[in-house]
Order: sequence, then structure tokens, then C-alpha cells
Amino acid sequence: MPVISICSPKGGVGKTTLTSNLAYVFAKAGTKVVAIDLDPQNAMRLYFGQPLQDDRGFISKIETDPNADWVDALINVDRNLFVLPFGKSRQAQRLILDAKLAEEGYLRDRQSTIFCNPDILVLADFPPGYSVALKALSEVTDLTLVPLIADAASISQFSMLQNDELLEGPLNHRLGYYIVLNMVDNRIKLNREIQEFATHNMSEHLLGMVHADTSVVEAAALQQPVAEFNHNSSAAFDIEVLAKKLATILGFEVKQGTILINPLRDQ
Ligand SMILES: Nc1ncnc2c1ncn2[C@@H]1O[C@H](COP(=O)(O)OP(=O)(O)OP(=O)(O)O)[C@@H](O)[C@H]1O
Ligand SMILES: [Mg+2]
Repeated sequence: MPVISICSPKGGVGKTTLTSNLAYVFAKAGTKVVAIDLDPQNAMRLYFGQPLQDDRGFISKIETDPNADWVDALINVDRNLFVLPFGKSRQAQRLILDAKLAEEGYLRDRQSTIFCNPDILVLADFPPGYSVALKALSEVTDLTLVPLIADAASISQFSMLQNDELLEGPLNHRLGYYIVLNMVDNRIKLNREIQEFATHNMSEHLLGMVHADTSVVEAAALQQPVAEFNHNSSAAFDIEVLAKKLATILGFEVKQGTILINPLRDQ
């Protein structure tokens, strides 16, 4: 803990991009971060410089021992930064995982090394829409981040969030959910109108936005965080702002380029 889940009713809206880039920003600012991939697509590892052929992950450990500690599959990719890839998987393994996740207290009891560590920020990435993992994580999640694209189809999903329809219940039991409008392009009239709609109608649920920026795509192709690829890009700026807002909501101390999870403990 703290745990941020990044999910969305829509696919291709920037969940993995935001998870990985926020992980880098927090780690660079001094927070110990574990980025967990709960999407069988197993793509998040690529954002952390892992080679395509390296298909290690926590899923293979589960088949041999369903109660295995996921911590053994962590990969240290940078100072303060650890990634837990899903791994290449077969359906039989995914069924075992879903059965374990459906067990009461599996994450709190069996995966407490990761989910009950007060000094680690966990960022969890999910497949689009409902998943057993999203439901299970909702029990240990402090804040849910929901990227949506500034288009009509994406915004039409807002009522689904308002009515708690994604999980047929709250996305977490603590700080609630915050929407990030991603791929915003102010040159497009519809985009500007959707931003206005979002500001008026999502108000307290709207965390901020990330502009559409080719640096994001190019950085991903080079397996780099966007801030490293182009520190002056609008997306790098936007993501840093989001990280600071998240840190404030979570009660971290934000000071002189550092973000500390437990300011009182570190004094
Ligand atoms: N702000 C942005 N500007 C430009 N391109 C972006 C931006 N954010 C994400 N993208 C691009 O959009 C595509 C989808 O992003 P990403 O894979 O992060 O979405 P996702 O929600 O995780 O998708 P999935 O539902 O498949 O898991 C990627 O090619 C990514 O580089
Ligand atoms: Mg993704």
C-alpha cells in the first residue's frame, strides 16, 4: 500500500502508457514503486525495457504453487523501480489465477509482501473492461485511475462509472476514482467541447489530462519513459502534473523534486 489501479471500460485509452510513465515519475522522485501487469496481453514489461523474448512473469509461479509469493517474480528495472510482469500464459494458468483471486483475502494474506507494504507505491495495470483481477484488487486499492479518450464513445462510458457498473460495486473502498482525459488535441473542436463537458459534469472526478503527443508513441517504441525520450514534451509535463496531484490526494509529501510516501516516518 498505497495501491493505485489503472483501469477503464475502454481499450486503447492509455492505461499501460500511464501506468508505466507514472511509475517512472514516482520512482525518479524517490518513491519505491512496483508496477504490476494484470493484463494477460503481457505488454507492460515492454514499457520497462524488457526484451520481447523475455516472457517471465508471476503467472508461471502460480501453476506450480498457487500460493507462491508474487514478489519472487519482481524485476528491478531502475533505482526504486520494480516491475511485475504478467508473463506468457496458458488458459489453464489464467484459470488458476482467477480462482485464487476470487478467494477471500488472497491478496492481503498471500501477497502481503507487495500489497501490505506501507513503503511501496503499487501501480496496477488491467485489461479493458471487467476482469476478475480488477474486482479482487478493488479490495486493496486506495485510488482508481480511469483514462478515457476525449471522444464521444469514451465519454459515453462516464455514466457507467458514475453508476458503479464496471464492477457492480465501487472501484475501491477508499479514495474513489479519478478520470484522466488522454490524447487531448485542442485543435479539434469536438475535443474542446468534450473537455468542457468533462469539466462541468465530471468535476470532482476529473484529475486532469494528457495531450496527444507523438513523443508518447516514439518513447514507447524505444522502450523509454516519455520524460526521458523528450523531457520538454507536453505529455511529459502533463504526466508529471498528474503524479503530483495523485501524490497530494494520497497524502504523500511533495518537496524539492522528491515524493515521499510516509513523510512522518521519514523525518
Ligand atoms: N497521450 C498520448 N498521445 C499519443 N499517443 C498515445 C498517448 N497515450 C497513449 N498513446 C498511444 O495509444 C496507444 C494505446 O495506448 P496503451 O497501450 O497505453 O492503451 P491501453 O489502454 O493500455 O490499451 P489496452 O486496452 O490494449 O491495454 C499506444 O500506441 C500509445 O503509445
Ligand atoms: Mg494496456
